[in-house]
Amino acid sequence: MAAPPSDAELQPSKLGTKEHWDHVYSSELANFNEIGDEGEIWFGEESVEKMVDWALEHVPLPSVSSSSSSVPPSPSSPSSPSSPSHPSILEVGSGNGTLLFALAEAGYAPHHMCGIDYSADAVALAESIAETREIEGILFAQRDFLGEEVPVLGGGETHEVGGESPAVGGEETSTPLFTTNPSTWDLVLDKGTYDAIALGEKDEWGLSPAARYPARVARLLRPGGYFLITSCNFTEEELKASFTAEKTLRYHSRVQHRTFSFGGQSGSVVCTVAFVKVEEGSV
Ligand SMILES: C[S@@+](CC[C@H](N)C(=O)[O-])C[C@H]1O[C@@H](n2cnc3c(N)ncnc32)[C@H](O)[C@@H]1O
Repeated sequence: MAAPPSDAELQPSKLGTKEHWDHVYSSELANFNEIGDEGEIWFGEESVEKMVDWALEHVPLPSVSSSSSSVPPSPSSPSSPSSPSHPSILEVGSGNGTLLFALAEAGYAPHHMCGIDYSADAVALAESIAETREIEGILFAQRDFLGEEVPVLGGGETHEVGGESPAVGGEETSTPLFTTNPSTWDLVLDKGTYDAIALGEKDEWGLSPAARYPARVARLLRPGGYFLITSCNFTEEELKASFTAEKTLRYHSRVQHRTFSFGGQSGSVVCTVAFVKVEEGSV
């Protein structure tokens, strides 16, 4: 288990509790129902645009000719940049769903996207916004990323990873791939969730819940799949140290954010870093 390097400095706060987020999303949901306000965009529109641009560059959309193929995806071969299938995208702690909606608007297939959040009202809010914006097909599910399995997508049904569910093949390429193998996601995203998790109560050994996070992400990615994270609580170097410690993820690239200067030091308020899951046998 990888301890975040600055773990000792980050003291638990209410931002690391489910009660806090339940409260936030209960009021955001009420606002949305009353006045149509979609709620907070964590780290601003620019961070959303930067994450979408990174995805478009590194996790390409299938070409028009291949996506119109009538050949259904094979349940044993997860979608990959070289396959005609749309990339599968999971957001951990999807909140109001802004990032996934932006990816859908950029051309990624909603049926291949899933957002999980442990707050039921966050899930309800994201679903309501999707309905209002007429974006159909993204699966939003209530899950605690650290303690529960992530759903797998298939034929309009939700299955538990590792469960005894029947395999569901697609009739057309817009139907998501079904597999019981958890290591299938092409892209896992995090915007502010690892930050929140790192502020949770430490265990009896003084470890933050964030220590369990890197292994869980690595398990969900297919070999060669990407993890893209935007954080405000950790520096790029700290993220690199935490996510590469177990050697299942390797640093891939970073996204440049606007910098500010203060007292002779220059830095960014947030950082976005990408990691890639190492191919089996190459560790
Ligand atoms: C700072 S907000 C960011 C929300 C969203 N990613 C965005 O950018 O708008 C952190 C989110 O993580 C969720 N969260 C925190 N811990 C979680 C956990 N263990 N499992 C699932 N979701 C969690 C919270 O409910 C909240 O929606």
